[in-house]
Amino acid sequence: MSNITKGRELTFSILKYNPRDPESRPRFVEFKMYETTGMTLFIVLSKIREEMDADLSFDFVCRAGICGSCGMLVNGKPLLACRTLTADYPDGNIQIMPMPAFELIKDLSVNTGKWMDAMSMRVESWIHTNEVHDISALEDKVDPDIADETFELDRCIECGLCITSCGTALMRPDFIGPAGLNRVARFQIDPHDNRTNEDFYELVGDDDGIFGCMTLLACEDHCPKHLPLQQKIAYMRRKLVSVK
Ligand code: SF4
Ligand code: FES
Repeated sequence: MSNITKGRELTFSILKYNPRDPESRPRFVEFKMYETTGMTLFIVLSKIREEMDADLSFDFVCRAGICGSCGMLVNGKPLLACRTLTADYPDGNIQIMPMPAFELIKDLSVNTGKWMDAMSMRVESWIHTNEVHDISALEDKVDPDIADETFELDRCIECGLCITSCGTALMRPDFIGPAGLNRVARFQIDPHDNRTNEDFYELVGDDDGIFGCMTLLACEDHCPKHLPLQQKIAYMRRKLVSVK
């Protein structure tokens, strides 16, 4: 005899739309299923695709909150679907939509990679140095506190939840967003990067950059890696506001 007991019935309302199909119109489609212990939205969406709608598109890779590919709007909040439990929704009604700040591929699948690539190019997301390194020599020592601070900001998984939750980024697509400003702070702190504050000012010293943030704080509230986004935006603003 099976030990699996049927849980409560859940109702999912999922936005479906294929922008490449001229016949397609955005619409919510309802799916019902019984809850099981520890059920995540990854399990829900996989079950829907396997058993009810083979056409449903969504992205998952790691299923462990590491790859950053499963950001979605769940009952209006940006969340990683693989880390979201159905148990957190007491009335059993869950609406799922794609993140609005990114190009829609289809249904729940969005192109965060395109946005992140453009951001990386814009902030020149690589070490700038004229020093010639001897690759056979021992690595330079770095102060452990500075190394910790740099690695902390490098934990960004490029999920895009901070961009989706940012009022400025939603209103102004050219705004570099919390993930972009976090990236700038990461290189400003790194002693290997020889760029000056004047150089960083040239990159992000305007309303599409460090001075566009309205300090609404939603980015930090929604970052699944708990990065200190607001603290670093304030830090960069203090550094750049004094550039003559
Ligand atoms: S800063 Fe946080 S929320 Fe934003 S992209 Fe990186 S991990 Fe995701
Ligand atoms: S599938 Fe990798 S973060 Fe959700």
